[in-house]
Amino acid sequence: MAVDILKISKDAIEAAKHHNDVINASIGMFYDEDKKIGGMPTVSNAIKGLTDDELLPYPAVDGGPAFRKNVISWVLGKYEKEITEKMFVSACATPGGSGAIASTFSVCATPGDSIFVSDIRWQYERFADRAKLNVFEHHLFKGDGFDLDSFKSRLESLGKTQKRIIVIINDPCHNPTGFTLSETEFKSILSILNEQRNNEIIFLYDLAYLEYSHETDNRKKISYLPLLESHVTTIIAFSGSKTFGVYGMRLGAAIILSQSESRTKELHLRYVNEARGSWSATPTPSIELFNKFAEEKHRQDFLKDLEKINAIVQARSASFVSQAREIGLKTHPFRSGFYTVVLTKNPDQDYLKLAEHRIFAVPMNGGVRFALCSLSQKEILGLPQKIKKILNL
Ligand SMILES: Cc1ncc(COP(=O)(O)O)c(C=O)c1O
Repeated sequence: MAVDILKISKDAIEAAKHHNDVINASIGMFYDEDKKIGGMPTVSNAIKGLTDDELLPYPAVDGGPAFRKNVISWVLGKYEKEITEKMFVSACATPGGSGAIASTFSVCATPGDSIFVSDIRWQYERFADRAKLNVFEHHLFKGDGFDLDSFKSRLESLGKTQKRIIVIINDPCHNPTGFTLSETEFKSILSILNEQRNNEIIFLYDLAYLEYSHETDNRKKISYLPLLESHVTTIIAFSGSKTFGVYGMRLGAAIILSQSESRTKELHLRYVNEARGSWSATPTPSIELFNKFAEEKHRQDFLKDLEKINAIVQARSASFVSQAREIGLKTHPFRSGFYTVVLTKNPDQDYLKLAEHRIFAVPMNGGVRFALCSLSQKEILGLPQKIKKILNL
């Protein structure tokens, strides 16, 4: 279902010029309770404080040694030492997590191949179309958990006809459902990847919403990556857009982890080549902003802002989910994050019906997605009831 989320958001913004009751739940950007963007003052101030030297020059294509080191440390967190002792790790700056995904398709797949994705997902097909790739699906859910059986059997089927497979896992805070894998589910996924020994697996681990998970240790699952055997290469897609709320700055990275030094080195070169021949280089201000927040003092200030945002995001979703539950409005299993999906029979008609009532949301496989991150708690109060009534659910 190739709807244009940015277009739905534009329609909502246009409608808001004429009506004051517009609910714009279309897009994954955090807005504060006063409907203002820029919920992280430390980030906004750091951007305003960038000097000419941090803004204007061309950057290194991969972000440069400081960025590479910083982004690896940031994502691997306290497990960095343990992981880098067991795996060869490198990184390349990309314009957002999107750049990491698009370049992985281009670097690691052959046109005509299929990427392996869940039936409910963010719009990976947009990147696949451009790279002339098809999608091959597994079921995401079995009851309230991840459907490991479908994941395993469908991967085995694809493995029979295609040697190299890009397997995408979007976790934590899966977009669009807000589902987060348990550690046991994650480890089982890794075991299934290990069992595909006749294939070459590229495990594209999209953790755009890493900082918004409410797990006790949101990097614990990353610490299991060294369990992966030599036929599996991991590419972590890091999104600075979501991490720092800097959606327009196009900050991201592809982090390469493998058991082979030569493969990691070769892939790094291929990502650099891909970058140079397409977007050229990730914007200097983004790279410098990231390097600033990698310094401990700034990181601590950022974490305080993040904590506030996380509390708000969680309060919004708790409010929506509990109201929905009370009136019997069904959603996909939700744990935390920016979005939730209300289950409906005809998503591509239902989202249009909602838009007629000035509620803007996005159709997905099996339902309509609401970006609760962009709604105030006032807007969320009574929203499930409105949805139920309009869609006659
Ligand atoms: C699951 C997921 N991955 C990756 C991205 C990419 O974000 P960006 O390119 O802005 O970093 C998004 C953005 O919405 C997303 O929802």
